[in-house]
Amino acid sequence: MKVLYYTPQSDADAWLRDLSRALPGADLRVWQAGDDAPADIAIVWKPPRDMLAGRTDLRAIFNLGAGVDAILKLERDHPGTLPRNAQLVRLEDTGMAQQMSEYVGHAVLRYMRRFDEYDRLKAERRWHVLEPHARETFTVGVLGLGVLGSHVAKSLVSLGFPVRGFSRSAREIEGVDTFAGETQFDAFLNGVKVLVNLLPHTPDTNGVLNARNLSKLAHGAYLVNIARGAHLVEQDLLDALEQGQIAAATLDVFVEEPLPAQHPFWTHPRIAITPHISALTLREESVVQIAQKIGALMRGEPIGGIVDIERGY
Ligand code: NAP
Ligand code: GLV
Repeated sequence: MKVLYYTPQSDADAWLRDLSRALPGADLRVWQAGDDAPADIAIVWKPPRDMLAGRTDLRAIFNLGAGVDAILKLERDHPGTLPRNAQLVRLEDTGMAQQMSEYVGHAVLRYMRRFDEYDRLKAERRWHVLEPHARETFTVGVLGLGVLGSHVAKSLVSLGFPVRGFSRSAREIEGVDTFAGETQFDAFLNGVKVLVNLLPHTPDTNGVLNARNLSKLAHGAYLVNIARGAHLVEQDLLDALEQGQIAAATLDVFVEEPLPAQHPFWTHPRIAITPHISALTLREESVVQIAQKIGALMRGEPIGGIVDIERGY
């Protein structure tokens, strides 16, 4: 079995070492420009089009992340890039759900307990007690109830928050008030105090965090975007912050990454920024999952995480 590996950013040696241990007998190589020698499996993050186009022998492409938007954009921009017979498989959890729950729990508690405002008071050396937010009115709405969103929603329930969730198809999660489909979208948004975005980025969800939808939230709501930058209409957030409709935002993902030095988000006092780290791809967990799925595919067994290319996630 010939396996290609490509990512623009991580330590290839460590990945190849762990993959070769998990896939004994596999012939592993890092893809380099111009390499069109045969391969059965590709393990990739943000691959260039040249790596995949024309590879009729490929049986599966394993994406080293949960979101497959970068690969599907290649296919949308250049139809036929993805080999027709290859399954596109994404990571399912591999330690990301726990990381997301920690990130969201931190952000929501920070806003509910007003720690962000106490930080500002400290900078002014002001000893001042703020009126606490009531937990029962601090409704958190989670957009996307998949592998990550459902874990985050459950963790918020366990912290005692009223939690709503929104997905394309109907979902049931204990303790979560769930809404599904476009017709229930406004009811989901209405009066939400913290909106957490964990949708995949698809043509349907592009720009979903826009002025119209932000205006449905409670006045002075909070936004946590940990999915993709293109979900957010950036100027709409700046306007909503200016108007007080949004009190503050925590952003992990941006239209352009790294966020350009002159971007207004950097200096905005009510925007917290992290550099796309809300859930990192963990090498050990990912290698185990990918190796198990390759084994299952080779035996002709079904696997999870196969992307529906038409649906976009
Ligand atoms: P997933 O399991 O595929 O879940 C996607 C959820 O979104 C599902 O509940 C799905 O509804 C819902 N959805 C999709 N399109 C929708 C639409 N048009 N309207 C309403 N709901 C829709 O994905 P996941 O593993 O949870 O990951 C979610 C996203 O997180 C990834 O795509 C990625 O962009 C992002 N992410 C970010 C980081 C980071 O570090 N910032 C790390 C990992 C992942 P159904 O349940 O009906 O299918
Ligand atoms: C990271 O952004 C991922 O999609 O896993």
